[in-house]
Amino acid sequence: MLCLGIETSCDDTSLALVQDGKLLEQTASSQADLHALFGGVVPEMASREHGRFIGPLCDALLKRTGVVPADIDVVAVARGPGLLGSLLVGVAFGKAFALGARARFLGINHLHAHIFAAGLEQKLELPALALLVSGAHTHLYRVEGSDTLHPLGKTLDDAAGEAFDKAGKMLGLPYPAGRHIDELANEGSACAKLFPRPYLNNETLDFSFSGLKTAMASYIASRRELTGKWDVCSGQPVLPSPGPERAVLADLCASYRLAVVETLAFKVRKALLREENTALRTLILAGGVAANSLLRGAMREIVEAAGLAFATPSIQLCTDNGAMISYLGWLLASKGYSHTLDMEAVPRGVRVPDDMLR
Ligand code: KG4
Ligand code: ZN
Repeated sequence: MLCLGIETSCDDTSLALVQDGKLLEQTASSQADLHALFGGVVPEMASREHGRFIGPLCDALLKRTGVVPADIDVVAVARGPGLLGSLLVGVAFGKAFALGARARFLGINHLHAHIFAAGLEQKLELPALALLVSGAHTHLYRVEGSDTLHPLGKTLDDAAGEAFDKAGKMLGLPYPAGRHIDELANEGSACAKLFPRPYLNNETLDFSFSGLKTAMASYIASRRELTGKWDVCSGQPVLPSPGPERAVLADLCASYRLAVVETLAFKVRKALLREENTALRTLILAGGVAANSLLRGAMREIVEAAGLAFATPSIQLCTDNGAMISYLGWLLASKGYSHTLDMEAVPRGVRVPDDMLR
């Protein structure tokens, strides 16, 4: 079964072909440089850019693989959560393509696609506990199958990625700042007591990262020298060159990253304890923040202690991509699921199996 996957939920336009569970090819265009000029994603511009690139990317994908529309059995498209204008471009394109190619059509939950992305590279033994950490979401799920994901906890305010991006903005780092904070942190040493581990003293598996961001804001309020340098010509933030100034920034990033990672690790351990009697086999770490080097290490330590398998996508499959949409599309289509062409994009996301037909 050949599935075309389309991802346009935020600022990456990406299309991919998955055949019988294997990735054939992926094309992608990132708008990160454009939105970096504004310090965050501008929704209206994002949807226009998707509109510009989706057709050429699809053509390139077909040309590179020698696939023709009639070969495609399923068209899977990110249905939400995401920015409505951006989702609409992918959904409209996917519907038109499915209609023209006489293929089955399927709307995919973007978060669930992140979780199953690791399945492209390794066998996923279920049931699993999944930590999904992205720019807009921080969720814990118990995963029993591609159509059976039970939410256990989520962030009540900012997502982990947002905590990195907003702190990075305060420090004058380029957007999105998660990767820069991670890289700078690897050069520094963390002060464990500099930042709080927020929202741990409660019975829930929920998260709250907004206080951490405020702690960073308070720390740097009286230390203006920490808040980054600008390239006069482009007006864009630039990282300081090696020297004492960069060393201080590195220590600050290391301390902040440690607070985020220890907070996530605490709730993952709590979730594993709570699910102790449910025969979990795997811990899945997914979403853009899963690229974080300290977080990957912390999750590896947890699975070793708990005797679980560990599944996390390679770095290039952690952030938004068409391959994950295509792969989950293939999994669900293999179970017989589809949507009719009146399916709508849902910016807040839907729970599976939602309104899929079987
Ligand atoms: O999943 P994703 O590509 O987009 C959403 O669906 O939100 O995640 C993007 C997020 C951004 O917040 C970005 O800063 C973060 O992933 N990110 C990282 C790293 N690489 C990307 N955060 C921490 N460490 C990283 N190495
Ligand atoms: Zn995402």
